[in-house]
Amino acid sequence: MTGLRILATGKAVPVKKVTNDDMARIVDTSDEWIKQRTGMSVRHHVSGEENHTGLAEQAARKAIEKSGIDKAEIDAVVVCTVSSDYYSPSTACLIQGRLGLRKDIIAFDLGAGCSGFVFGLETIRALMMARNAKYGLIIGAEVLSKKMDMTDRSTCVLFGDGAAAAVVELADNQFTSVIGVDGDEEMINIKTPNGYIHMDGQGTYKFAVATVPKVIEEVVAKSGFSYDEIDHYVLHQANLRIIESIAKKIKQPMDKFVVNIEKYGNTSAASVGLALDEALEEGRIHPGDKVLLCAFGAGRTWGAVVLEM
Ligand code: ACO
Repeated sequence: MTGLRILATGKAVPVKKVTNDDMARIVDTSDEWIKQRTGMSVRHHVSGEENHTGLAEQAARKAIEKSGIDKAEIDAVVVCTVSSDYYSPSTACLIQGRLGLRKDIIAFDLGAGCSGFVFGLETIRALMMARNAKYGLIIGAEVLSKKMDMTDRSTCVLFGDGAAAAVVELADNQFTSVIGVDGDEEMINIKTPNGYIHMDGQGTYKFAVATVPKVIEEVVAKSGFSYDEIDHYVLHQANLRIIESIAKKIKQPMDKFVVNIEKYGNTSAASVGLALDEALEEGRIHPGDKVLLCAFGAGRTWGAVVLEM
């Protein structure tokens, strides 16, 4: 079996909501500027005891519960992130312990910026094929509020905290992927373990609107479907204008695009999973639907998959 089926998803966001007006009390910005340039209204930031591992754990527990599987049959855990609690150990190892998963599994963190969840799907599929695994657990989790320079208005308004998880199994369904890297240090980076996010916003915007439509074109062609046959487009939630521009370029209606950036901001490696989970929870995505997931981010990285639910 070379396909990958998503059996169930789960998500977790911190309790504290931070509105655009709240951000305007911290830096020189406004609700109007943020909404107009990005489509964001609210993001969540951790507070009190909340942390990266806790969010990842909550999302994973929900996905496992919804899937109905026996957690003892999980053979691989991949956590996609750039903002874990520790430089080492990995969040994936902490999840193995907290969830009481078997000890003879493989568990590690994967860093591919905002492309994390898509890189994670491709990685866990390959791992599961190599290890003849029954179930895999993929988690995208970020606490970017701890990586933001709260005096830099060009980045601190954009990011939010959250986690999304999926329980997956190898299957005979359609799974087509296109993954890429064009090594770059400057576009988006966090230069030291305790450093802040630096981003060339305009450069990232141009990279996204130029690259994503090409990646989508490639993965759709490779899948054998047409744009019209794809039921849902779940893109990285970095900027509503980027999503709208891509929809226009590939001539697909906006109602086929899952958009939740207004509620969470850019949650990096969690974003595609969060959007997917919401669409599933809302009953918008059904078994058998063809879904295209696509993300881009630091690295420079990009990835897209077409899969049947
Ligand atoms: N509030 C008010 N004004 C602001 C703010 C703010 N929060 N931030 C910047 N500005 C100002 C700038 O200083 C500039 O002022 P100036 O003209 O006087 O110099 C003006 O607004 C315009 O700035 P731009 O950077 O040109 O604004 P732009 O329209 O490009 O929007 C944005 C910025 C939203 C960051 C956009 O470039 C973008 O979305 N880029 C893509 C980001 C992205 O996709 N990231 C995903 C990957 S992240 C990852 O992988 C971790």
